[in-house]
Parts: sequence; C-alpha cells; structure tokens
Amino acid sequence: MRKKIVAGNWKMNMNLNEGMALADGLNEYFKANPLSGKEVILCTPFIHLGMVGGLLTAPGLTFGAQNCNDHKSGAYTGEVSASMIRSTGAGSVILGHSERRTLYGENDELLESKTAEALRNGLRVIFCCGEVFAEREGNIHFDVVKRQLEKGLFGLSAEDFRRCVIAYEPVWAIGTGVTASPAQAQEMHSFIRGLVEKKYGKETAGDTTILYGGSCKASNAAELFANSDVDGGLIGGASLVKEEFCSIVNSL
Ligand code: PGA
Repeated sequence: MRKKIVAGNWKMNMNLNEGMALADGLNEYFKANPLSGKEVILCTPFIHLGMVGGLLTAPGLTFGAQNCNDHKSGAYTGEVSASMIRSTGAGSVILGHSERRTLYGENDELLESKTAEALRNGLRVIFCCGEVFAEREGNIHFDVVKRQLEKGLFGLSAEDFRRCVIAYEPVWAIGTGVTASPAQAQEMHSFIRGLVEKKYGKETAGDTTILYGGSCKASNAAELFANSDVDGGLIGGASLVKEEFCSIVNSL
C-alpha cells in the first residue's frame, strides 16, 4: 500500500527557537487531530534536527534533513553526513531538490551517490525531479524527468528503491506562486509511475509514493491531492505557517 505523505521543506528559514516553536505547535495539533495512517515529515535545517526530533511525539509526525554529503566521513569542512543525520533520529532526507541542482551544481551522478549513502545509513530518500519552464515549453519535460530518475534513482536495487519517495517539483512552480494545474500534475505523476513500473514492476510502482511540490498551499492542495497518482505534497513556503500547513495536511 502506498503511503500518503506531506513533507514540509523549511529550506534556510527559522532560527532554532522559531523552528522549535513551530514543531511544538504542529506536534500539539497532530496529537489532538491524529494523522491516522498519513505521515507528516518536517525537513528542517541541520541544526534543528536533534532538538526538533526530541519534541515530536504525535504518531505519524516525523522529521528529516534537506541534504546530505555523499561521503561517509572525513575532511569535508562544513558538510554533514547521512550517518550524522540518522544519529539525530531523523528518518528521511530530501535529495535532488532543484535549488541544490541549480545553485550548488549537484548533478545526476552526485545525487546517485548521495542517495546510496543515505540509504546505507537507514534514511528514506525523498528524491526530487522536475523540469524548468523552458524545458516544458520545448516539450522535453518528460525526457528531463525520465533522465533525472534513470540516472539518479534507477540504479538502485528494487529493495533499496522501495525505501524512496519521489517528489515531482516543476521548477517553474517552486516559490513562484504559479502551481502546476491538477491535470499537469496528474499527467507527470502517472508518467513517473509508468517509468517505475517498467523498471521495478507493477507492484512496486503501485506502492511508490509520488509527491507534488511547487506553490502547493491550503487553497489548492485539495484539487492537486484529488488526483489518483498524487500521493501528497512537498511543501516549501506554506510549511512555515502552522495553520496553513495543517490545512494542507487535512486536504490529503
Ligand atoms: P514552495 O517550495 O512550496 O515554496 O513552492 C516547494 C519546494 O521547493 O519544495
């Protein structure tokens, strides 16, 4: 059975106190309003992980990181390893976010090794893919997403792949206020599920959680989540406001 998930990507926002206050507020909310089978993942900055993790007691409310290094340990000043992340109790890590790809030059090969390292350390990977606007205009968006998945993810064994979640995030929709239409989201999600089926078979494809991300908010979450291949969302800006984020989770 595929899992329904809403993940909040806090990006580089909120100091430690603000982050703890938000996590605490969400924990209280989801204690009072049980997630009943859904999962909510708070993907916080590295420095928040240990403290935020210690606050979360609501069933289904978990936490994770937004990036990790591809090496095990060593002389990589300023970097954070997958095993360090896991040691905080975090269960997930976002990899391949378009901001990492474009601002920090992360390519498919690097993402493949980061993914392997994260999985080796017991983290679930939320693997992001998505085209830029010119690629959609040029009608090569399916090719772009196919390449990202084939190069970054499809080298995994079936067993490892089953510990990954895919997030489709059209880059033109991230932080812009422009959302993919429900039909555009469904079309790409169904394409992605088809690729997974070709590679790993029908059962694994049916079990794979595929999230939509890109200007998803309380006012449009329900129509996006209503599509049969959209299993939840990866939420940026709207994950920083408790009421907004809770309302998105409730739409799922
Ligand atoms: P946004 O970001 O919801 O602010 O568009 C989504 C993301 O980057 O994961």
